[in-house]
Amino acid sequence: MTDTDIKYGLAGVVADDTSVSKVMPEINSLTYRGYKVQDLATQCRFEEVAYLIWHGELPNSEQLEKFNALEKSERGLSDDLKTVMALFNKKAHPMDTLRTAISFLGQEDNEANDSSPDALMTKSVRMFAKIPEIVAADFRLRHGKKPIPATKDLPFSENFFQMCFGEVPAPEIVKCFDISMTLYAEHSFNASTFTARTIASSTSDIYSAITGAIGSLKGPLHGGANEAVMHMLEEVGSPETAKDWMLDALATKKKIMGFGHRVYRSGDSRVPTMTDAYEKMVEVIGTKEAKKYWEISQTLDETMVKEKGIYPNLDFPAGPAYYLMGFEIPMFTPIFVVSRITGWTAHVMEQLADNKLIRPLSNYKGPDQREVTQISAR
Ligand code: COA
Repeated sequence: MTDTDIKYGLAGVVADDTSVSKVMPEINSLTYRGYKVQDLATQCRFEEVAYLIWHGELPNSEQLEKFNALEKSERGLSDDLKTVMALFNKKAHPMDTLRTAISFLGQEDNEANDSSPDALMTKSVRMFAKIPEIVAADFRLRHGKKPIPATKDLPFSENFFQMCFGEVPAPEIVKCFDISMTLYAEHSFNASTFTARTIASSTSDIYSAITGAIGSLKGPLHGGANEAVMHMLEEVGSPETAKDWMLDALATKKKIMGFGHRVYRSGDSRVPTMTDAYEKMVEVIGTKEAKKYWEISQTLDETMVKEKGIYPNLDFPAGPAYYLMGFEIPMFTPIFVVSRITGWTAHVMEQLADNKLIRPLSNYKGPDQREVTQISAR
């Protein structure tokens, strides 16, 4: 085997079939179950998109009502989980606490190892309903505040704001968040989804698959990029310095967070919809700070595309949008999980519906076979 036979980073490797989503870089499009993600983001609520991702079709009004009732019935955390969360290290990254909380949910579930289709669906909706409360409670606890329990009176996105801040912001801000939920929900065989499928392929339980996926998403080359983007915008500081900052960063061969994509080479199909929602939100917020971050984003984007021909990915507009919604930076990747739990669990269900253990080969480059007696210390 030569180095050219090896697909480093599995780049270009088609590992399985899927009917959840299709990434079409050649026409710059992404569809969930055949629907364009841009249309879903602007025309549907995230709850409808979650239903679509799991069931393959958009819900009619009766199906949606039933689904919303089911999701609401799964809201709420056990007293044990709340007690454990109060003991979490306040300095740990929220992705670490979220990973631990999901692992806790798994050990709380006496049927965790039931991977029948119905049980997988129940656990998927359960995690979908509980993750927002875990993220919100963790945010409040680390600031010495009492968690605000979920309310069954509010839809999914509104409920998340309510649990974080005790109030629901302007509709344009909720809409921007809801759009980001749809855009982040699913993206074929990215690193975390493939991690979830790999874990599921050993016929381990779905909570283990999601715990592993959270670990994968945390990395700055994957979901962690939305946090890194905001740190970058803070470092840039002002629209006036943005162009020079970018030119200098490129001259010193820095990786610019929020740009580039393994699959999309001429632009991420999700970016225009997210940027549009971010811009509308900036207008509604109307503060100097909001305008500043919008202008910095615009200049960095223009300069990067002009200088390198590398386009922004979804994390680039999502990072500052979350910041302006009032979320603190370490929450951005957990917020990605609030959404991506839908895609991950759909993939776990798909993997287990026709499972084959994922087990690639490796090209060994270590010493040839040798005898233990050759060890010099003996
Ligand atoms: N900043 C600067 N240069 C970049 C870049 C970025 N964000 N993304 C790609 N490039 C450059 C690479 O340096 C490389 O240049 P070279 O050929 O001169 O060495 C070329 O573009 C190809 O990039 P490569 O890293 O091989 O592409 P990849 O498919 O392995 O990487 C990412 C894709 C996403 C890992 C990469 O673009 C990246 O690290 N982006 C920043 C992190 C990020 O935003 N991640 C979220 C992804 S949704």
